Amino acid sequence: MRHLIFAASIALIASPALAQQGGDAKNGEKHFKSDGCYQCHGYAGQGATQTGPRISRTALTFDQFLNQLRHPASAMAPYEEPIMPTATAADIYAYLKAMPEPPDPKSLQLLFVTKSK
Ligand code: HEC
Repeated sequence: MRHLIFAASIALIASPALAQQGGDAKNGEKHFKSDGCYQCHGYAGQGATQTGPRISRTALTFDQFLNQLRHPASAMAPYEEPIMPTATAADIYAYLKAMPEPPDPKSLQLLFVTKSK
């Protein structure tokens, strides 16, 4: 019984973090577009040298990701609390994490090879 209470209290303490990990990717996709992330990071989160780095399948932890939104390193605008609730950030994070891997370049067919004379 004591173990059960212990386990239950751990679950309660851990639940906000767990909720953030299990964000709603569908809602995240909506916000990725409506909140302008795509403008600098691309629709596939692929990034571009002039505007922002690749963020698809980000290697950042959720805390690092949230910290980036609240206190960007340099050129990115900050996304503060009322504008970007933590729950919405978690949804965007889930969306980025669920983005598909690009195909292996070796699997891509060449269009055609021209013969030089
Ligand atoms: C005006 C352009 C711009 C917009 C809009 C923008 N970003 Fe960024 N983002 C950047 C730039 C530039 C960097 C790298 C420099 C910095 O941190 O400021 C960056 C960095 C990041 C990083 C860190 C990447 C890494 O691996 O270090 C994440 C994560 C990120 N952005 C997520 C987002 C999300 C999510 C949104 C939308 C809510 C967003 N950004 C909107 C320009 C932008």
